[in-house]
Amino acid sequence: QSKETLDALSAYEWLTKLYHHLLRHTKEGKEGYQYLKDRGFTDDVIDTFQLGYSPNSKDFIVEFLEKKGFHRQSMVKAGILSSNEDNVVTDRFRGRVIFPIRNHLGKTIGFGGRTITDQKPKYLNSPESELFQKGKLLYNFDLARKSIRKKQEAVLFEGQMDVISAHKAGVMNGIATLGTALTDMQAKLLRRYVDTVIICYDPDNAGFLASFKAAKLLKQVGCAVKVATLPNGLDPDDYIKTYGADRFHHEVIEASDTYMTFMMKYLKKDYNLKLEGDRIQYVENVIDEIALIERPIEREHYLKELANEFELSIETLTQEVRSRNEKIG
Ligand code: GTP
Ligand code: MN
Ligand code: MN
Ligand code: MN
Ligand code: MN
Repeated sequence: QSKETLDALSAYEWLTKLYHHLLRHTKEGKEGYQYLKDRGFTDDVIDTFQLGYSPNSKDFIVEFLEKKGFHRQSMVKAGILSSNEDNVVTDRFRGRVIFPIRNHLGKTIGFGGRTITDQKPKYLNSPESELFQKGKLLYNFDLARKSIRKKQEAVLFEGQMDVISAHKAGVMNGIATLGTALTDMQAKLLRRYVDTVIICYDPDNAGFLASFKAAKLLKQVGCAVKVATLPNGLDPDDYIKTYGADRFHHEVIEASDTYMTFMMKYLKKDYNLKLEGDRIQYVENVIDEIALIERPIEREHYLKELANEFELSIETLTQEVRSRNEKIG
């Protein structure tokens, strides 16, 4: 690791403690604390996730870092401080609630800062660096790892808020990609620990599309995939707040669909199954997916389901699957 990386690690460690202290114990952090309280965070959760606040001050953090012996310019280079056109240096995250982003060893390697007003962007992350590479890490993997391994199952969320809410509701195996699409590297990392991944993204168009993509990637690396369905308009964090932990366990996590069921529901939205042409196209699409299933029993299960729903013979459908697999080789 380069000198810059070691410096940044050390600065992140100091700042994690400082931001957290400011939030919990000072009047400078009161706004941030109130924001989290209003969103249902307990002190316990705030401590577990080391949540913090960066006061809306020009130089508080700049001076703190300077006193600790960090060079202003190297902190700017590391993306911890930011500098405007007039070379005025300020804290990148000022006025934001801080979510430390930890690596698998529990060390802070970056921050996500959420505005407590309606400032844009809603979330501001540390910039990509040698140390902080969003596509390689999973938020909360360090805390969730034990539970993930024990259950052989992980729950994949979109964001920090969802992971933390779920944790509070007793779902300890939650992790998140921080607003970006799941990468091949993250999928492979998960595969080393689990058989099954339950995707629990937001129930909006972006979330559906992302679920579909993540599912494909996870299947490619050999995970069994399930997809949880939430009622329209409520993300996991909202759902838990509205309906409570118990219903989240039973009606969302435990009730999650298998990949095939999710896929069929998802595809159906694009077709009007009252129309003959649409019906045929839909069935062809589903057969494409069934042809990819390796276990014969599972394959037959879905073929039967499809045959029943569309009054087709199982022989015809089996033939279709066979001809697809011959083409692939
Ligand atoms: P809340 O609105 O605080 O409940 O957060 P959320 O997790 O519900 O946010 P949303 O569903 O909009 O986005 C999911 C995740 O994407 C967030 O947790 C962030 O990690 C990330 N994200 C959201 N908005 C932004 C943004 O403006 N910039 C960046 N870089 N990331 C974002
Ligand atoms: Mn504390
Ligand atoms: Mn979202
Ligand atoms: Mn959301
Ligand atoms: Mn939310």
